Parts: sequence; structure tokens; C-alpha cells
Amino acid sequence: MELVAGPSSLEIAYKISNILKADLIEVEQKFFPDSESYIRIKKSVKNEDVVIIQGMHPPQDTHIIQTFLLIDTLLDLGASSVELVSPYLAYTRQDKRFLDGEAVSFKTLLKILHKLGLKKTYTVNIHCPWIIQESPTPIIDLRGEKPLAAHIKEHRFSKPVVISVGKKGLDMAKMVAEQLGVEYASAQSERDRVTGQVKVELDGLPGIEAIVVDDIISTGGTMVELIKLLKRRGFKKIYATCIHALLVGNAVERIFNAGADRIIASDTVPNRFTEYTVAGIISEELKKKYG
Ligand code: R5P
Repeated sequence: MELVAGPSSLEIAYKISNILKADLIEVEQKFFPDSESYIRIKKSVKNEDVVIIQGMHPPQDTHIIQTFLLIDTLLDLGASSVELVSPYLAYTRQDKRFLDGEAVSFKTLLKILHKLGLKKTYTVNIHCPWIIQESPTPIIDLRGEKPLAAHIKEHRFSKPVVISVGKKGLDMAKMVAEQLGVEYASAQSERDRVTGQVKVELDGLPGIEAIVVDDIISTGGTMVELIKLLKRRGFKKIYATCIHALLVGNAVERIFNAGADRIIASDTVPNRFTEYTVAGIISEELKKKYG
């Protein structure tokens, strides 16, 4: 198996290659003067099974085009098969037509990946797990809760409660809380499809220290509402944790202003709040197939 470090995910690609003790093929990447993407693979991949490591975090559209170019070029250069590790998959929050006439962007993305000849996609905490059965190319959805909980455990928080949001969040909170041996709950949330404004409600769960877990922090709107609610309930320490830290615009400022003591994120998306890595769970999965 040959590992290819996509331009968007160099750091995590190095971590995975270290764990697997596998060489990493680097890609020459640049932009043409008009901003179009240029990709060049500088090593022969003829008859090789290739795994690309390339996340689709912002700037998503550039990283997606690079992914298309990588898959197509590797197969064109004679690779036997190409799989993709995309720690963060883009457009997963547009998995259905919420308003008449909208593009179902994630389905379009999956169709193109399949048409290009991609054999499999590995990702972490996909936002819309229900779409996996519909994907024309198999998707392996790895769970970041284990390394997140292990990281929290190492930091010996006193007796936190774990709070999340939504039905999927309940599952996430449960996984983290069970590893920590603490209580958990999930808030109900509603987002205005036009303004993006989020409202949250939570049945009572008292405590002093809260670990708020969410799969994604994007604009920070959901996290901010949860933090404000927990502050009103008397929580003294609040940790805003997530798998994918997109932290768009002034999300960081808003989260701290709302009363968070710390933001804790994984390395699926390069960001300055990374405290734990998902390279281990990705490597374990790759080992199952490639030894
Ligand atoms: C919602 O279903 C997700 O779990 C996240 O809460 C949401 O995507 C976060 O987005 P934002 O940070 O923009 O509120």
C-alpha cells in the first residue's frame, strides 16, 4: 500500500505514516496564476494500492477539486486501486433538500467520487451517518469519541457531566460519558433554516463542570447557546469540545465570550485548539486491510 499526503492534510498524514511505518508520497501542489489547482504525483504508483489522505475542510471547494485530481491522476498513472481517508468530509450538512430547489450537495459529491473510480472512503464522525447506506462507494465512519474521552480522562477533570445536542449528540455524549463514568444528557435544538439562528433546550442535569461535546463547531452558534444555557444553570467550568473544529468567522471569540474555559478539538481539521489526534483510529482501520 502507498500512502499519499494530500495537500490539505499533511500533518495528520505524517502521523498516520509514522504509526503505520509506511512511506508517504508527497504531492506537488500549486495554483496557476488564475487560482486553478495544479497537482503532480512525483513517484510511480503503477500497480499499487493507494490510500490518499486529504481532508475537505475549508477552503472546501479547493480541497475537493484537489481530491478529484488526485484520484483521477493516480488511477490514470496505473494505480490498482485508490481509497480516500478524508478526516473531515465537506457538504455533509447539505444531505437533503431543506428548501425547494436546493442542491443536495453531499449526494453530488458522493456521485462524483464514485464515478472517478474511488473504491472506499474513510472518515471520522460523519455528520449524516444515515446517508452511508445510500452512498455508491462504501464509507467507513470512524468515531472520535474514544480518543476524545481518553484525552479528557488524562486531564482528570473533577466530576464533569457530558452535554451534547440532538439525537446524534446523545449517542456521542453517551460514548464519552461511559468512558469517563459520568452522567450525560443531550439538549434539543432547532435551527432557523433561513437565519441560521439556533435555539436549545435542556432538561435539568445539575453540575459544576460541563464537557460539551459536538461533532462540528462551525459558526459556534450551537455551542454558544449551550454554554449560555449551562451558565444560567450555574455551571462554573465549561469545556467546549468537538471532533471537527471549523471555527468559522468569530466563532472562537463568541465561544469564549459566552463563558467557555477551553476549546478542545481533534486534528481532523488543522486548528490551534487541537489537543488530541484521530490518527490512531484511522491507522488501526487501515491496518485491518493493509496489515
Ligand atoms: C448540528 O447538528 C451539529 O451537531 C452542530 O451542532 C452544528 O453543525 C454546529 O454548527 P454551528 O457551529 O454553526 O452552530
